Amino acid sequence: MPSLADTTRNRVLFGGDYNPEQWPEETWYEDVRLMKAAGVNSVTLGVFSWAKLEPRPGAYDFGWLDRLMDLMHTNGIGVVLATPTASPPPWLGRLHPDTLPVDEDGRTERWGGRQHFSHSSAAYRRHAAAVTEALAARYAGHPALTMWHINNEYCTSDHGDEAAVRFRRWLKDRYATLDALNAAWGTAFWSQGYGDWEEILPARRTHYLKNPTQVLDFRRFTSDMLLECFTAERDIVRRHTPHLPVTTNFMPLWFGQDAWRWAEEEDVVSVDLYPDPRDPLGAQHGALVQDMTRSQARGPWMLMEQAAGPVNWRGANHPKPRGLNRLWSLQAVARGADAVCYFQWRQSRQGAEKFHSGMVGHAGEQGRTYQEVRQLGADLAKLGPHVADTHVTADVAVLHDWHSWWAGAQDGRPSARFDYPDVLHAWHRALWEAHLTTDFAHPEHDLTPYRVVVVPQLYALTDAAIVNLLAHVRRGGTLVCGFLTGIADEDDRVRPGGMDARLRELFGIRTLHEWWPLETDETAACDGFRGTLWSEEIEPDGTATEAVPYKGGELDGLPAVLRKDRAWYVSTLPEPAALRDLLARACADAGVRPVLDALPAEVEAVRRGEQLFLLHHGREPVTVGVPGTHRDLLTGATVTDRVTLGRYGVAVLTEPAA
Ligand code: GAL
Repeated sequence: MPSLADTTRNRVLFGGDYNPEQWPEETWYEDVRLMKAAGVNSVTLGVFSWAKLEPRPGAYDFGWLDRLMDLMHTNGIGVVLATPTASPPPWLGRLHPDTLPVDEDGRTERWGGRQHFSHSSAAYRRHAAAVTEALAARYAGHPALTMWHINNEYCTSDHGDEAAVRFRRWLKDRYATLDALNAAWGTAFWSQGYGDWEEILPARRTHYLKNPTQVLDFRRFTSDMLLECFTAERDIVRRHTPHLPVTTNFMPLWFGQDAWRWAEEEDVVSVDLYPDPRDPLGAQHGALVQDMTRSQARGPWMLMEQAAGPVNWRGANHPKPRGLNRLWSLQAVARGADAVCYFQWRQSRQGAEKFHSGMVGHAGEQGRTYQEVRQLGADLAKLGPHVADTHVTADVAVLHDWHSWWAGAQDGRPSARFDYPDVLHAWHRALWEAHLTTDFAHPEHDLTPYRVVVVPQLYALTDAAIVNLLAHVRRGGTLVCGFLTGIADEDDRVRPGGMDARLRELFGIRTLHEWWPLETDETAACDGFRGTLWSEEIEPDGTATEAVPYKGGELDGLPAVLRKDRAWYVSTLPEPAALRDLLARACADAGVRPVLDALPAEVEAVRRGEQLFLLHHGREPVTVGVPGTHRDLLTGATVTDRVTLGRYGVAVLTEPAA
């Protein structure tokens, strides 16, 4: 199987989406000059070029792309070639209105923006396949081509009639009989029993709460339909270039796409990442997404898009202060990225994203953005031979599953005061602040590489997942589990007793009497910290080895945290410092240590391969103790026992010389 290493070849890929069709050809030569000066070695072409490539049905115009491919090749810049199927040309919608997606209210989304395609439309799939075939046939042998990029950020849904037909087919594959479907969906409630497959609809607008299992299956179906669109195009390009890797770019923690499942179908996993420069937890969000993408890739991955400066889709779109672009890019490399790429190369002067930054901003070559990009290119060139194709290893895994998220994120739940991603972020943040390197894993994955498994919240768990968790503890692993875990099965049916009996026994819970969700600004006093979001009325079974009680109020004296040997249950969300300390303790007990001792709070440390990355997220200089003598790959300096990092400073240290 082709892999990212086939393309990187001991380099970190550096570049981005290049949309030269918006510029006169003389600009292309200027682009190449600036790219080379900045060390750009990879561009992604054609992401949204369908109308330019196929201006009329079946009539292709490849001349401009031929010239660009040649230009890139002559200048030693590799091309990640995209299939243009994320933005069909206007003629497709006009000829085939059935290619347009329909929302849950029956409203059609039209052309004039992008991503106006129905994953279920046979006409869309036919035309997407045809343009992909033509592109792959034409460029299969081109020496500039290094990788395929299919579509862009698959994120659409469709509730239309063709989607209804495919949904019924998908359900027949899953359930075989209507009796099985009625049982799984619990249609006995509210007179929803189906007597004919034709009666079943996508999750369209209803008067009051929808059937939750229908919604859950519709989410599964949507992810699967988009995946079918991906694999159809992937198979076409693979037929032409079996030696080249294929990817599609994920959005971070995107609700609509089971990225575990998708990653299995890709040769290279890539992600787009846009933390808000003003967000005090922006770097932690970045770390979470990077850890998750690395885990999906099971190794090096691509940062396919980020912004060199401001985006144009937040309330106020803040630029990156001097040094931040470099810091966050090197953070991605530290956490396993073998590619640092952007949307987009040159900032547009027209169109919907003209106020979104590019690597070359409106200020041009002299602008700070391009100057910093250029410095970053030089840094990446130094790191490439040392880091490309090396791995980050972790003793801790955080479990995450889209199906559980989909099942839990419904109306009619016990509390709408928080969302699952908030909980996931809080737990990852605690590990990040404790300087513990973590992977992510699916609850049914092999957990044997991990000494500590952390479950922030898995509302729905399959039996296989529960058995996997129990086996982890049985073989000596530590499990730390957050509230609202193990409540439902994969059909979103509540488990007897309100929480899976095997898990209750594992944690020493006799009865889970009631949940006591907290209001947004409310906290629950516990012995030594305050809980947020949630609290629980738990009756322990007397087997716990340790318990931290709630203090005062209805739950006074009942356990907020229960520990039975290596299994911990945390029935609230402890405030950040308390959760950090709790996880640090659980890890220390399991023999898992932070990357470095006595790290300043604002310094992130990650080991990748033989290198130690130190990333300073603050503006005031700090000194970090690093026992031994090292070489800093960025400066070439020898570092003995300590290193000082300035504002947003980064050091990449080789292991101490023996
Ligand atoms: C991504 C997208 C790019 C561009 C970018 C702007 O979601 O893939 O094409 O729109 O956002 O931030």
